[in-house]
Amino acid sequence: MDKELTSGAPVTLEEVTADNLRAVMDLQVKPEQNDFVAPNSVSIAQYCYTDEAWMRAIYAGGDPVGFVLLSERRSVPRYYLWRYMIDGRYQRLGFGARALHLVIDYVRTLPNATEMYVTYVPAPGGPRDFYAGVGFVDTGVDHEGELEMRLALD
Ligand SMILES: CC(C)(COP(=O)(O)OP(=O)(O)OC[C@H]1O[C@@H](n2cnc3c(N)ncnc32)[C@H](O)[C@@H]1OP(=O)(O)O)[C@@H](O)C(=O)NCCC(=O)NCCS
Repeated sequence: MDKELTSGAPVTLEEVTADNLRAVMDLQVKPEQNDFVAPNSVSIAQYCYTDEAWMRAIYAGGDPVGFVLLSERRSVPRYYLWRYMIDGRYQRLGFGARALHLVIDYVRTLPNATEMYVTYVPAPGGPRDFYAGVGFVDTGVDHEGELEMRLALD
């Protein structure tokens, strides 16, 4: 049975290791959200073949509930939230927003970080308003059907 997690559970970002790899790969969004983000197994594989990237498992109350993959091209610089998800069982508990603030705190520590980006699939139930709630603003740029948002960090 799934562990009961409440919105007050502490949220942390943890390294993906041999110990939690399977649990992180098993996290899934709701079926109707499958077009919005790649499976974590795909994202972790892509991380392994990308030079400038960073990934973490999102934990709440000590258990994995989500995943983040960041593209961090420090020389450009361009910091881009490549993948972001909270398992369908644990959505709407505030974990996504709280973990994203931790990610933003991390990006602020990176060289010349004045802004970060995300793109989203513009579809009903998509994450646009979630990102807007955290402060991201539409740029109007279309990346092959995904729409870009920007967060100013200064
Ligand atoms: C988008 C996602 C990460 C949000 O995670 P979450 O833990 O459910 O979000 P939170 O509970 O922290 O919600 C924070 C706020 O955003 C709102 N929100 C969350 N998901 C939303 C959605 N899909 N549409 C509109 N608003 C949303 C919440 O209502 C809440 O608003 P409030 O502060 O006014 O109460 C999660 O729904 C998810 O994994 N979706 C599927 C994958 C996806 O779309 N990933 C993004 C790829 S770019």
